[in-house]
Amino acid sequence: MPNKQLNLEWNEVKKKSSLSKKERSLLALATTSLDHAYAPYSNFKVGASILLTNGKMVGGSNQENAAYPMCLCAERVALSAAASEHPNVPIKSMAITVKAPNQIIDQPAMPCGSCRQALCEQEFRQKKPIKLVIRGEKGPIYIFKSAKDILPFSFDASFL
Ligand code: THU
Repeated sequence: MPNKQLNLEWNEVKKKSSLSKKERSLLALATTSLDHAYAPYSNFKVGASILLTNGKMVGGSNQENAAYPMCLCAERVALSAAASEHPNVPIKSMAITVKAPNQIIDQPAMPCGSCRQALCEQEFRQKKPIKLVIRGEKGPIYIFKSAKDILPFSFDASFL
């Protein structure tokens, strides 16, 4: 029985100041977007921002609902806003940051499974990878070359 392995590569940037100028401004937009979160139930705020290949940036934040399962994640809000406002413009990168009510998150808070799937759908659609720049409230920044990297064995339209 062959023993198979998966190798995951990402970059860890210790400080915001070591990011490129574009990445810094994308992360700054994610942080601003946090303030637009509607999170009265979890008090956990998430900001996501998207850089498009035409240079435009789009932000999104989590939007909760008293009917809890209806809560919308920041990443998918940003993806939908980008697709609606800039149809068919490929996405270059997404930055994500969070703010928790009772602790300082000092590690990157990774997107949930559904958001990973939505990001992979967009990559499949645009046939180009989406770079991810992920940071907690402070601390190191993880950079992944593609959303696919954080959703191995993903399901996509090629199976249909
Ligand atoms: N949340 C996101 O916005 N993105 C994720 O990837 C994980 C979770 C939001 C949903 C909810 O409003 C709050 O964080 C707590 O789960």
